[in-house]
This record gives sequence, C-alpha cells and structure tokens, in this order.
Amino acid sequence: MTAILRGDLVARELDDATRIEVERLRADGIDPSLAVVLVGEDPASEIYVRRKRLAAEAVGIRSIEHRLGAATSQQSLLALIATLNADPGIHGILVQLPLPPQIASDEVLGAITPHKDVDGFHPVNVGRLSTGTGGLIPCTPLGCMLLLDRVIADFRGLKAVVIGKSNIVGKPVAMLLLERECTVTITHIHTRGLPEIARTADIIVAAAGSPGLVRGDWVKPGAVLIDVGINRIAREDGKTVIVGDVAANECDHAAVLTPVPRGVGPMTIACLLRNTVQAARLALA
Ligand code: GUN
Repeated sequence: MTAILRGDLVARELDDATRIEVERLRADGIDPSLAVVLVGEDPASEIYVRRKRLAAEAVGIRSIEHRLGAATSQQSLLALIATLNADPGIHGILVQLPLPPQIASDEVLGAITPHKDVDGFHPVNVGRLSTGTGGLIPCTPLGCMLLLDRVIADFRGLKAVVIGKSNIVGKPVAMLLLERECTVTITHIHTRGLPEIARTADIIVAAAGSPGLVRGDWVKPGAVLIDVGINRIAREDGKTVIVGDVAANECDHAAVLTPVPRGVGPMTIACLLRNTVQAARLALA
C-alpha cells in the first residue's frame, strides 16, 4: 500500500509556524510585506497570484499587488522593481512568470535585490544554493524537501532521479538533494533510457510537465514519488481536470506518493510565505 503524503496538510502546519513568526516580527516593529507583480493577463498566472495573495493575508502578511498591462516595457517593469527594492516597507518581491515576450525574464529576476528575492531566482541566490551557503531557496524545491523530510530520516546515499531540468524546479531540487548527500541524476525530455534510470531511484521528483509520464513500470517497489506536475487536461465529458506527471493509479508498489492536487502545489505557496518572513527577518538583521 502506498502512503499518500498530503502537501495541503503539511502546508497548513507550515502556515501555523509562519503565522507565529509574523506575530513575532510585528512585536519587533516589522510588518512583513510581499509585493507581487503580474504582467499581462495569463489566466493560470491570475489564479496563482490570487492564491498567493489570499494565503499571505491568511497568515497576516501584507500583500501588495502590482498589475501591469501585457504591453508593458522592460524599462517600466525595471523601474517598478527599483522602487520596490528601495522601499524599506517591502520585504519580499515576486514577479510572476512567464513574462510577455518583449521582456527578458533573466534581466528582471536579476534586478531584484537578492535579500528580497522570495522566489530564490536571482543569480546570487542560485549561486548560494549551489554552494550550500544559505540564501533564499526557490519555493517548489523547498516544498519538495520539506515533504521528503516527513518520510525520510537519512538521505545519505539514496539514489534520487529528478525528471525535468527547469531553473524553477529541476535544477534547484537536484542541488538540495545533492546537499543531503543523495546520488542525484538529472534527466529531461531528451534523456535516453529514462524508464531504466527512473527504476533505479529511491526518490523520484517528477517535474517534466507531462501528464502521466512516470508509468508504474518506471518505479522501483518502495520508492518515494514526489509529483510536481500540474497539468490541466480536458476530459471526454468536456470538464478540465488537473493531473500530475505520475500515473498514480499504476503506482501501488511505491512506498509514498504526493497527490495532485493537494500535494506539492500548496507547499509552494506555504514556502513563499515562509521565505517572506525569512526576508523580513533579514531586514531586521
Ligand atoms: N510561475 C510558475 N511557477 C512560478 C514560481 O514559482 N514563481 C513565479 N514567480 N512564477 C512562477
């Protein structure tokens, strides 16, 4: 039998701890505040930004939304970021991705002051992560590790296979697993013999954005599966459903599986709030 590791329940516990930390910061005279910047009208981004705002408010973090039109120039976006960087009342800055094509995402992410970079995407934070020297850690990879911590006491020597090489999930989660002394293989859509590689894994982190990619026969009995996929697919009856990257109905022989929905998704948001209070603490230091 597979244990279902419910990220929504773990996220609730994290939020309780964050709420306490917010109260402590208030007592120290700091009102933790998060600026969320949304450019354009991407429907998925609208949903994520709304969720982030509601979640921030629920733990007592002030959230300020900046909405810019789809035709916004890179220069205006950089000007907004400069203003937010300079504002001592703002502790975290998040620019929702993807950005419209006229804007170079790497320039924008690189313009955020590293200690306000609650997404952990600034090159300084990426460098800190890869050298194990602190910094703000990207939210989804951090959420994956906090889930794994619930079911694995000692990571040393375990074989971890990461499927997906994105800057947002694949690469940073591989670094975090490596830091715990796992033997890490990063794979992607062009990897040859992916099923055989996946079958060697004690831990699989599936973050390819491909519905049901990880089949039952890719999974070693007793493996731990972290499903990062959030794929919207249209069913035959016309309804849209959200499915992960793991064919969950074929994986009864796994030891642990995170569901989709109610798995990694809620952890991402809880980690954003956790990073925001960490950033606010940095401002106090
Ligand atoms: N778009 C998809 N995932 C993310 C994320 O983690 N952070 C931001 N800023 N945008 C995203």
